[in-house]
Amino acid sequence: MDNSKNPLETYFRNNSDGRLIHKWLHYFEIYHRHFERFRGRKPVVLEFGVSQGGSLEMWRDYFGRGAKIHGVDINPKCKELERRRSKIFIGDQADREFLRSIVDEIGPVDVVIEDGGHQFDQQIHTFEEIYPTMAEDGVFLIEDLHTSYWPKNFGGGVRKPGTFIEYAKNLSDQLNAWHSRQPRKFQVDEFTRTTKSMHFYDSIIAFERGSVVRPTHERVGIKTVHDPDWKAARTPVGRVANRLLNR
Ligand SMILES: C[S@@+](CC[C@H](N)C(=O)[O-])C[C@H]1O[C@@H](n2cnc3c(N)ncnc32)[C@H](O)[C@@H]1O
Repeated sequence: MDNSKNPLETYFRNNSDGRLIHKWLHYFEIYHRHFERFRGRKPVVLEFGVSQGGSLEMWRDYFGRGAKIHGVDINPKCKELERRRSKIFIGDQADREFLRSIVDEIGPVDVVIEDGGHQFDQQIHTFEEIYPTMAEDGVFLIEDLHTSYWPKNFGGGVRKPGTFIEYAKNLSDQLNAWHSRQPRKFQVDEFTRTTKSMHFYDSIIAFERGSVVRPTHERVGIKTVHDPDWKAARTPVGRVANRLLNR
């Protein structure tokens, strides 16, 4: 994507006198790819990590009039940034009860940007409490996942159990649970039924929600390269395949 035409990057570049925003530059393309369809549609947006309020103003500008742009931060000073259509919730995003109280107040959210404390318990609790309550076609985008690889301050490390990245790798199996042949340990669950896709980028994962039903497949056409003497035709699977193909 040509970032000179990315409205978020344009906003960021023109913000030299505005409230402070801190973003990795490659995030703008990813945001726009997943969030563009919500612009002008009055979405409910929730950002974890308000800091100086600059990113909330950027989202307000990007999603347009009528959007409800809410924020969450542990720092009570952030409450000063609250506005009529933009609530600021003060609390610890690792606290599940606090998270549930946010959902009770604002209802289903269309877009989540998770840019809070970046500790794994914060990330996982936030995902587990907020994701299932989101709008059916919502997007949950979690960023700065490089902390999953950082031993210092975060306790991360490559393939280290407990990090958000490892947690998300397990969820990528769950996306495929329709094809399980091990029903005792691998089954379709709510995540499987409500998640269309997971997009892994450097430092970001975007979860796209949607109503998913058991996948089906079909064959069309009659022309094949089928050869009755083909070796596999003599195996039990081959015989069944032949019968089906020649019906
Ligand atoms: C990276 S900054 C957010 C930057 C902002 N979104 C931006 O783009 O400019 C992270 C914020 O998360 C907040 N934070 C840290 N730990 C938190 C926690 N446990 N719960 C909620 N917010 C937390 C910090 O106070 C800080 O303001």
